[in-house]
Amino acid sequence: MNMPTAPTDFNELVELDRRHVWHHLTHHKPLEEKDPLVITRGDGMRIWDQNGKEHLDAVSGAVWTVNLGYGQTRIADAVRDQLMEMCYFAGSAGNLPGIRYAERLTAKMPGLSRVYYCNSGTEANEKGFKMVRQIAAKDGGRKHKILYRDRDYHGSSIATLSACGQGERKAQYGPFVPGFVEVPHVSRYHSELGDDPDFGVKAAREIERIIEREDPDTVGSICLEPITAGGGAILPPEGYFETVQEICRKHGVLLHIDEVVCGIGRTGTWFGYQHYGIQPDIVTMAKGVASGYAAIAVTATTEDVFNRFKDDDDPMGYFRDISTFGGCAAGPAAALATMDIIEEQNLLENVTEMGEYMMEKLRGLQNKHEIIGDVRGKGLFAGIELVLDRKSRKPVHEGVPIRIAADCMDHGVVIGRTNRSITGGMNNVLLLSPALIAGQSEIDEIVEAVDAALGRVVM
Ligand SMILES: Cc1ncc(COP(=O)(O)O)c(C=O)c1O
Repeated sequence: MNMPTAPTDFNELVELDRRHVWHHLTHHKPLEEKDPLVITRGDGMRIWDQNGKEHLDAVSGAVWTVNLGYGQTRIADAVRDQLMEMCYFAGSAGNLPGIRYAERLTAKMPGLSRVYYCNSGTEANEKGFKMVRQIAAKDGGRKHKILYRDRDYHGSSIATLSACGQGERKAQYGPFVPGFVEVPHVSRYHSELGDDPDFGVKAAREIERIIEREDPDTVGSICLEPITAGGGAILPPEGYFETVQEICRKHGVLLHIDEVVCGIGRTGTWFGYQHYGIQPDIVTMAKGVASGYAAIAVTATTEDVFNRFKDDDDPMGYFRDISTFGGCAAGPAAALATMDIIEEQNLLENVTEMGEYMMEKLRGLQNKHEIIGDVRGKGLFAGIELVLDRKSRKPVHEGVPIRIAADCMDHGVVIGRTNRSITGGMNNVLLLSPALIAGQSEIDEIVEAVDAALGRVVM
């Protein structure tokens, strides 16, 4: 329990924030007129801002991260104890929580056995790309291309933006890295083939068509989100991943699944891919791994991927990569405590149960509000797509979700939305991702806030 402190006057700090802090994904001009938001305290699923106003956090720290909520003493204590025992040594050596976490984590992902530590989702994906490039180099450099999907996001660096299917995130940051090739998204709601019962298989076959067009001998891997997150909460259609797996095996293409959002329980299984019965070669994760209490990300691989480096006699053949803070022992200490809490409190079951409850309530909202074209989700992760009319499925102007999110915020609930991601006016999806500890009362409060906001904002 994070005890409230006496009210503090944050005015001076807010002014210093305005003067010196460059906020992420924020246009700063409006902040000349209005105060920046400063979050000063958190407890459970509640946060407080600089004015002492309480908010219910329906998005786990805005970006699917504080998955166990705020004020988890046990994680904070684990971090403190570890830092006092041994805070840091470069990842060229092992450390005790890093070893323990690697064993616990790989036990949850059969077929994967190796854990490479770094700090962010971007970095974890970049490591995956570097592995693919180096594996190709070992064999003459041909199989170097990396496929990614329209609407998926894998990070903010130039290389991960080269693998980004979100036009508004990449615009103005090119030129990009060569050798990244886009495949189509799998939005059933927006595909011409969406009503086809074989949509999933057909969408996967599109990937094969692109592999063949590029020449399979040049394609090293495909990187996919199990559920497209920031690109609009898009679930893979039935049969999709199974067919992608088959195609990858046929053409010797490594399957890299980006679990940065879905990993560690968000969808009710440890990993999103585990809903689809596939066996990836590379799995990346970050955000919820330590629930935001320490920076940690992981690139997990099969023994086969690892051995391609281990068994290479070339003195340059090992993975010549380092991440300075991948050696900070606070990350795995926090990750171990996070995993303990998920297991002891049966939170995967809670996610499944509360996820179903949330979807049921959202379907109720859809029945009530004509503007909701589609609701979809898995576990405690959902999207509400807003359309001009249900027939054309044309998106509402992005100002609508912006106003709805602002209205929820005014009324004490923080929700998310597709934010400067998809081109073509498709930033029209509200996003919900409450902490894995959420109960019915929190879900009710969230859905009521969205309901009321829809009533107020949409004429
Ligand atoms: C699916 C996915 N992959 C990767 C990333 C990048 O993670 P990070 O911001 O930790 O670099 C994100 C961030 O939102 C993400 O949603």
